[in-house]
Amino acid sequence: MNRPDRLRCALAGLGTALLVAPVGGSATEVRERRTFAPLEAAAALDLDKVALGRKLFSDPILSRSQAISCASCHDLARGGTVSLSSAIANDGKEHGFNAPTVFNVAANYLLGWRGTHKSLEVLNEKVLLDPRLMAADWSLLADRLDQGRPYASWFRRIYGRKADRTNVLDALVTFQRSLVTANSRFDRHLRGDASALTPSERKGLQLFMSYGCASCHQGVNLGGNMRQRFGIFSDPAGPSVNETASPPVGTPASEEDLFRVPSLRNVAITGPYFHDGRVDSLSEAVSIMGRRQLGQTLAPSDIEAIVAFLNTLTGEYDGRPLENPATSIDP
Ligand code: HEC
Ligand code: HEC
Repeated sequence: MNRPDRLRCALAGLGTALLVAPVGGSATEVRERRTFAPLEAAAALDLDKVALGRKLFSDPILSRSQAISCASCHDLARGGTVSLSSAIANDGKEHGFNAPTVFNVAANYLLGWRGTHKSLEVLNEKVLLDPRLMAADWSLLADRLDQGRPYASWFRRIYGRKADRTNVLDALVTFQRSLVTANSRFDRHLRGDASALTPSERKGLQLFMSYGCASCHQGVNLGGNMRQRFGIFSDPAGPSVNETASPPVGTPASEEDLFRVPSLRNVAITGPYFHDGRVDSLSEAVSIMGRRQLGQTLAPSDIEAIVAFLNTLTGEYDGRPLENPATSIDP
């Protein structure tokens, strides 16, 4: 069987899986299906471009210093990120922002911590050229990629011409579209598998909805599709060391206050959390969300249940459950 045929077979299998998805269900199930959606396996992609993009993604040739690759900050063996609060860039300096995971990035409507981009091509170019990240430029990259094996012939074979801005971005983005972590236990639950979640995980899901987390973290990625102020409410416990006090509720948000609501898929293994990686513990992140986004101090047992639910969002990649050996699991 050639590659496109194999892919078509895989997609046909997926079609069968979708047919068994439930239609009726309890009011809770209907509400869950309205709020979230199961993650679909990657759409049919050109596998030659995926392979080229994969190679580029882990090749330091793309950074000016030739010291770091995309994978240095988005390690696929560590949840598509690195366990650092602030990314270390081309020049060895801290970037200031935590590297978000690249898994399921194609399902994010908004990109970057600020959520100011919608196109993966534009975002990729920004990262490549950003002096605080890869600090490259297109004439440098085109020359380097045309000089040696394997790229000179590889680009000509796939794109019929040498490497340039358009085809480098196309290969990188096609690869990133393949980074889908379908088949998490939550996806199985949404598809009607009644035993996919344990009772405490189901309780966590209910709390996630009843507290209102799902008013921001919703859709297929449980986030990724809106911008919100980080810190809508003043902390009932007073601002902690790393948190700034919020302006009074009702004050219009300025650009500096606005962040993209991030996807929570695979969140159990993508710490540290928040744009500046201010906390390592997922329980602490949930507690902060309760205080700052909802104005509520969540009971420890509720936090525990929500964290148990968030743990069911870890999906599979390359046929294996995703993991990050560097992330400590919350008790
Ligand atoms: C030095 C570390 C570093 C390197 C190298 C790096 N990134 Fe990133 N990446 C980041 C940081 C930090 C952000 C967040 C930037 C922001 O929000 O302003 C980011 C954001 C992203 C996003 C947005 C994800 C989302 O959900 O919004 C994508 C996609 C991405 N990078 C892909 C890549 C690709 C492709 C490469 C290689 C060409 C790459 N990155 C190289 C640190 C890095
Ligand atoms: C009003 C919108 C809103 C509500 C409600 C909300 N969040 Fe968030 N959430 C955000 C935003 C915005 C961020 C990103 C903040 C940042 O890092 O700057 C975030 C970040 C997070 C993160 C960190 C993700 C990461 O990768 O760093 C977790 C975990 C999280 N939220 C869980 C929850 C839970 C659980 C609830 C309910 C208790 C909740 N959120 C309620 C908007 C919201």
